[in-house]
Amino acid sequence: MENFINNLPKAELHLHIEGTFEPELMFEIAKRNKVDIPYDSVEKLKKAYAFSCLQDFLDIYYQGAQVLLYEQDFYDLTFAYLEKCAEQNVRHAEIMFDPQTHTERGVSFETVITGIHKACVEAREKFGISTLLIMSYLRHLSEEAAFKTLEESLPFKAWITAVGLDSSEKGNPPSKFKRVFEASVAEGYVPLAHAGEEGSADYVWEALDLLKIKRIDHGNNSLQDASLVREIVKRDMALTVCPLSNLSLKVVENLSEHPLKKMMDLGLKVTVNSDDPAYFGGQVNQNFISIQKALDLSKEDLCELARNSFRYSLLDQNMKDMYLREVEAYCAA
Ligand code: ADE
Ligand code: ZN
Repeated sequence: MENFINNLPKAELHLHIEGTFEPELMFEIAKRNKVDIPYDSVEKLKKAYAFSCLQDFLDIYYQGAQVLLYEQDFYDLTFAYLEKCAEQNVRHAEIMFDPQTHTERGVSFETVITGIHKACVEAREKFGISTLLIMSYLRHLSEEAAFKTLEESLPFKAWITAVGLDSSEKGNPPSKFKRVFEASVAEGYVPLAHAGEEGSADYVWEALDLLKIKRIDHGNNSLQDASLVREIVKRDMALTVCPLSNLSLKVVENLSEHPLKKMMDLGLKVTVNSDDPAYFGGQVNQNFISIQKALDLSKEDLCELARNSFRYSLLDQNMKDMYLREVEAYCAA
């Protein structure tokens, strides 16, 4: 099964580039930038990666991102992730980045996106991997701050496909960002959002009805509301599910209780993703392997998850068809 998963062509649709920051690279960049990390070794930093909820994690994740200062840093971070994609037969990646985590510290939007974009161009040439970028608004910040970020993004519009919504969910409902999502869509960005990770099913309804999202990041708590599940199935929307993230952040107590299979059985379109692999103990293939074992998924289930990852990507139909043919050839063999 592990071998089958490793070679399965797949796309990753839920990935925060700041969440791919491995401690070793963090220490290396901190050293060259002369920035202090409040841990004196990689081992001690890793020990701090024991979370009891989303906010616990976010506090450490934002702290880690503070060593990123220059274009080269964003390039190195992104290229390291894309090298891992190549090793895992991830053929396409839709990468979220959090501009405000950096612009709030005085790093320019241009610095962030130029470094990320250059790594994506290089990975396309070197590994044949396609990528696209999702600019995520931090929901614990104000609507005004999100509008400012939208404005800053406009010179780089050609490099950005979608907008997302992430960070502390509880107390920051989608309704807070209705207007900035409308403005983002008017600029041509596809609307996406985290919803129902820690927030209730009501937050998922709001993300659907007010933000008009095209895909749901996480979406676990949609299962609390049968009419919401029917609506998501009717609208043919996918959930970007992140099993090891859910385990690390105590969204589920253990993986055998994870609702992924139940979601599939209800007719929901599910994809498997790593979210923040440096913090949650596994890249996308490890997420597949762990959830396959925990829920005894069949090869056909795995093929369906891989198909969904391309079908519900933001690629154009030609690219989707090309990748889907790769999946079909692999699964038929
Ligand atoms: N930012 C990075 N990872 C996140 C997650 N799992 N939920 C919300 N915001 C995030
Ligand atoms: Zn996420």
